[in-house]
Amino acid sequence: MEIQNQAAIVTGGGSGMGAETARWLAKAGAKVTLLDVNIDAARHVAEEINGYAVACDVSSASAVEEAVAEARQIHGSARICVNCAGIAPAKRVVGRQGAMPLEDFQKVISINLIGTFNVLRIAATDMCDMEPTNEDGERGVIINTASIAAYEGQIGQAAYSASKGGVVGMTLPIARELARSGIRVMTIAPGIMHTPMIAAMPEDVQASLAAQVPFPKRLGSTSEYARMALHIIENAMLNGSVIRLDGAIRMAGK
Ligand SMILES: NC(=O)c1ccc[n+]([C@@H]2O[C@H](COP(=O)([O-])OP(=O)(O)OC[C@H]3O[C@@H](n4cnc5c(N)ncnc54)[C@H](O)[C@@H]3O)[C@@H](O)[C@H]2O)c1
Repeated sequence: MEIQNQAAIVTGGGSGMGAETARWLAKAGAKVTLLDVNIDAARHVAEEINGYAVACDVSSASAVEEAVAEARQIHGSARICVNCAGIAPAKRVVGRQGAMPLEDFQKVISINLIGTFNVLRIAATDMCDMEPTNEDGERGVIINTASIAAYEGQIGQAAYSASKGGVVGMTLPIARELARSGIRVMTIAPGIMHTPMIAAMPEDVQASLAAQVPFPKRLGSTSEYARMALHIIENAMLNGSVIRLDGAIRMAGK
């Protein structure tokens, strides 16, 4: 699908891979709305790219319904939806303080998995109401963000890996369901990417993470994620799959 002049929604657009994807989409001529709980960060990026920012917690049904409606009023219904909002706290199931609080597990699932589904369901509903945009009958493209932790979660990543495994698992059934409406659904599973999440770690930790990547021996960049997202939008044969973006790393247990 062509990107030029399309309305796009990017969640988690205030930082990291979401922010960079928003920049690349805007450069390619899309009208971008950023949804983020951190509205100051989202506004900052929106100003830079002449986009629009809405404060939104992706795990809330009503907040997402309202945010997508606001985006629709400003830019029209979106044919592009990129889900980047997420959190990655680590905690052992049985730690020094005893059992992991159930709310900690629920919070990660509710933002990373339910939040992704929540935005997807509202964005897809809008796309279904639009006319096809090309000869293939494409109405829209949805890109989710999983993680290689969906496959090789480390100790402490029970909640995170479960949430990302859920994103991987729902990709194909939703792509199959939405195929009749000309909507493609893809998921990117990044390895270790150089975003604020990782940049906050001590340099020696970052270096040791980079050394684990077979090739290239470095962390992934946000622009490598963004360029993958743009390619998925433009390449109509990509549908129902998860693409690892990881330099062949396979995470060890810890
Ligand atoms: N950085 C990595 O190495 C890496 C690797 C694999 C997967 N991922 C995944 O990629 C995605 C983006 O990661 P990043 O490193 O760019 O993160 P980041 O922390 O830089 O950005 C995440 C953004 O999501 C927003 N956010 C958090 N909770 C939200 C909520 N409930 N509603 C709306 N917005 C919310 C934050 O405010 C932030 O702006 C995440 O889903 C993350 O799990 C990251």
